[in-house]
Amino acid sequence: MLGKLLFTSLAVAGAVNAQRNPCSASSTTVESQADLDALVTCTTLGGDLVLGPNLVIATINGIRTIRGSLIAANCVDLQQLTAPELVTIEDKFNMTSLTVLNQLNFNSLRTVGEIYWQTLPALSNLGLAAQVTQAAKVTITDTILESLEGINLVTTSQFNINNNRYLKEVTVQLANITGSLAIEFNSPSVAASFPNLTWANNATFRSCGSVKLPVLTTVNGSLGFFENTFETLSTPRLTAVGTGTEGGDITFANNDALVNVSMPQLQTIFGTLQFVNDSNVKDIDGFPKLSVVHGSIDISGDFENATFPSIRDIRGGFNLQTTAEFDCSQEFDRFEGSIVKGKYVCEGVVTNPGTEGTDPTTNGGSNGGNKKNSAGKFTVNKSFAALPALALFAAFVL
Ligand SMILES: *[C@@H]1O[C@H](CO)[C@@H](O)[C@H](O)[C@H]1NC(C)=O
Ligand SMILES: *[C@@H]1O[C@H](CO)[C@@H](O)[C@H](O)[C@H]1NC(C)=O
Ligand SMILES: *[C@@H]1O[C@H](CO)[C@@H](O)[C@H](O)[C@H]1NC(C)=O
Ligand SMILES: *[C@@H]1O[C@H](CO)[C@@H](O)[C@H](O)[C@H]1NC(C)=O
Ligand SMILES: *[C@@H]1O[C@H](CO)[C@@H](O)[C@H](O)[C@H]1NC(C)=O
Ligand SMILES: *[C@@H]1O[C@H](CO)[C@@H](O)[C@H](O)[C@H]1NC(C)=O
Ligand SMILES: *[C@@H]1O[C@H](CO)[C@@H](O)[C@H](O)[C@H]1NC(C)=O
Ligand SMILES: *[C@@H]1O[C@H](CO)[C@@H](O)[C@H](O)[C@H]1NC(C)=O
Ligand SMILES: *[C@@H]1O[C@H](CO)[C@@H](O)[C@H](O)[C@H]1NC(C)=O
Repeated sequence: MLGKLLFTSLAVAGAVNAQRNPCSASSTTVESQADLDALVTCTTLGGDLVLGPNLVIATINGIRTIRGSLIAANCVDLQQLTAPELVTIEDKFNMTSLTVLNQLNFNSLRTVGEIYWQTLPALSNLGLAAQVTQAAKVTITDTILESLEGINLVTTSQFNINNNRYLKEVTVQLANITGSLAIEFNSPSVAASFPNLTWANNATFRSCGSVKLPVLTTVNGSLGFFENTFETLSTPRLTAVGTGTEGGDITFANNDALVNVSMPQLQTIFGTLQFVNDSNVKDIDGFPKLSVVHGSIDISGDFENATFPSIRDIRGGFNLQTTAEFDCSQEFDRFEGSIVKGKYVCEGVVTNPGTEGTDPTTNGGSNGGNKKNSAGKFTVNKSFAALPALALFAAFVL
């Protein structure tokens, strides 16, 4: 009798417990430190943990695993967020619009499903002493972080670091990035270094002070460099960009300081190679092994020399337009109709060099300078190269 009673009451207690078990709720919103302290026995929290708007200093004690997301969004007063024992957040670690958050201490955190941090204008350092070594996606945008120390991944599907205006360094031991890599609009001097990255999908570098990709071998998507401030870019191991089904371009656009691009092992581009508005690139000669381009070669700017000594197949067009005098006949005219399957344009002394599809309007070619390839038929005597365009034109006509 006593046994039965006891059993019944235990069962009831158990049922009530299961219903109210704070550790297994699909989502728990905490409004105060007392609410957080009520979770201290939850070594594993089964669902999401959402921080309410009134928290100022929040400490998550006891929890080692959050099976859902940790969400702190629009907590306008939150200054400190601490979780000393938390090792794993299985879904998202979402911190969005925390305008006064200035201290983060997650000294055991190692694994996160997705890091999504947006608009953290007071957070300059990450407190990630154990280092996060696994995260399937990382987006860090609009923070004042000076470094990403504490994030050290080996593989991820997305790594997007943008608009962090004090960020001076991005160095990550990523071996591969299966989705997209984007480092954009951070500190103009940001040094982006991927010492272990062997392959990436789409990769974009914008307004970086340096980019190091010493072991990058394959880019399955496109590789783009825009508005960077570095002088030299070298990918010593890169052999191919793109895939037969998706294409894949290499683009250098508006890199004002860029002088030297070196891709000594590159053989195949499944899309287009483009240089546009890189005003200090005088020599495009860093592609000694490039042999097949499935798209086009589209180079416009102020360069004096360009050479593709191993090229044997350009399935798209060829567009070369430069402000400098350029001898198309030596290097490229033989490409027309054989190597180049699309439209062939090669023109020097162009006032406003344009990208593929634009008509070069010359101020110096033969026949009044309005014919396609006119500069191509016009062999520049190298010793004239220093003469201004008009003098050269006159010398030729005479
Ligand atoms: C993070 O939270 C913000 C605010 O609730 C939301 O707008 C955003 O979509 C979330 N981000 C992700 C990746 O879930
Ligand atoms: C990505 O890199 C990691 C670490 O080197 C490796 O274990 C994994 O197999 C790689 N994934 C792919 C798809 O290459
Ligand atoms: C990354 O490369 C550095 C040096 O190139 C090496 O010391 C380190 O062990 C590598 N890291 C990984 C995770 O392979
Ligand atoms: C790569 O970027 C291009 C252009 O933005 C996009 O169309 C394509 O889907 C991307 N591919 C991957 C795998 O992200
Ligand atoms: C990208 O290329 C690498 C190396 O060729 C290959 O191992 C990987 O499976 C490719 N990834 C995708 C998503 O196509
Ligand atoms: C361009 O860079 C490559 C590789 O870094 C180097 O070998 C070469 O000397 C550089 N050329 C110039 C003109 O700086
Ligand atoms: C190149 O520069 C010109 C003039 O500043 C600009 O109009 C054009 O959009 C730029 N092209 C690209 C591809 O950024
Ligand atoms: C272009 O090539 C010629 C001949 O090889 C060389 O004399 C000249 O210095 C080169 N120009 C530049 C800017 O490297
Ligand atoms: C180039 O011009 C120089 C100077 O006028 C002249 O001596 C030389 O013979 C010319 N070379 C050719 C190939 O026309």
